[in-house]
Amino acid sequence: MSNEQSQPKVHGIFDPATWTVTYVVYEKPGSTCAIIDSVLDYDPKSGRTSHKSADKVIDFVKANDLSVEWILETHAHADHLSAAPYLKQQLGGKTAIGDHITNVQGVFKKIFNLESGFKQDGSQFDHLFKDGEAIQIGGLSGHIMYVPGHTPACVAYQFGDAVFVGDTMFMPDVGTARCDFPGGDAKTLYASTRKILSLPPQTRLFMCHDYPPNGRAVNFETTVAEQRAKNIHVHDGITEAQFVEMRTKRDATLEMPVLILPAVQINIRAGELPPKEDNGIAYVKIPMNAL
Ligand SMILES: [Fe+2]
Repeated sequence: MSNEQSQPKVHGIFDPATWTVTYVVYEKPGSTCAIIDSVLDYDPKSGRTSHKSADKVIDFVKANDLSVEWILETHAHADHLSAAPYLKQQLGGKTAIGDHITNVQGVFKKIFNLESGFKQDGSQFDHLFKDGEAIQIGGLSGHIMYVPGHTPACVAYQFGDAVFVGDTMFMPDVGTARCDFPGGDAKTLYASTRKILSLPPQTRLFMCHDYPPNGRAVNFETTVAEQRAKNIHVHDGITEAQFVEMRTKRDATLEMPVLILPAVQINIRAGELPPKEDNGIAYVKIPMNAL
């Protein structure tokens, strides 16, 4: 099936606790599939994890007789924990992320003063994708687009006419993602949004999150044409300088996401918890005055 002409099936599962959308991409029932940006439920008050969100993904995969080829991340998320290890254990498949994750691992290894055995070579993932690299899901051809800015390691995945944009942009009435995490950069994000918005106008774009304003229903699918016409931050005509000014001012007003500390420590390990200590319990750290 040729790229850009094919129209893969896409099933989005919205997690209301973190406003995240997990996608299952596949050709047809009975085919292979990829899972993108899964969510491990996490209660910050107790430190407990659970699998209600991930089990919804498993139910869908089983109901459609899909076999999992890939468990993909668009980036090391700061607002939710990845359920990739649980999904891999339950369903199989290979985990993957963009190859610049090694930069992110290096930054956070320093901030969290991680154990000396923590490798910052991305080897926690089964595969690291380079910009432009091809990816197959059975008969579906795709490729990786390197789209940094929100983080230095963000990638988007394109399969046929569907692009999973991660946190480069949100729905037109929400705009774009913040650029003030370590290694983030508004100018770089602007370039990444233009890269995505230079795709054919009918290209379907799938957001990693939705934060619906003004009481509208949750929605996480739009098109290049709609974003170019209506995205409040990057519609056609917004210059790089205008975007950078807006983004920088806005980011200065935002609080850190509630789950950033546990999320980053776990997601740079491909969703695994840190090694258990000698009492058999795994811990995450709170760096004081470092973020
Ligand atoms: Fe993010």
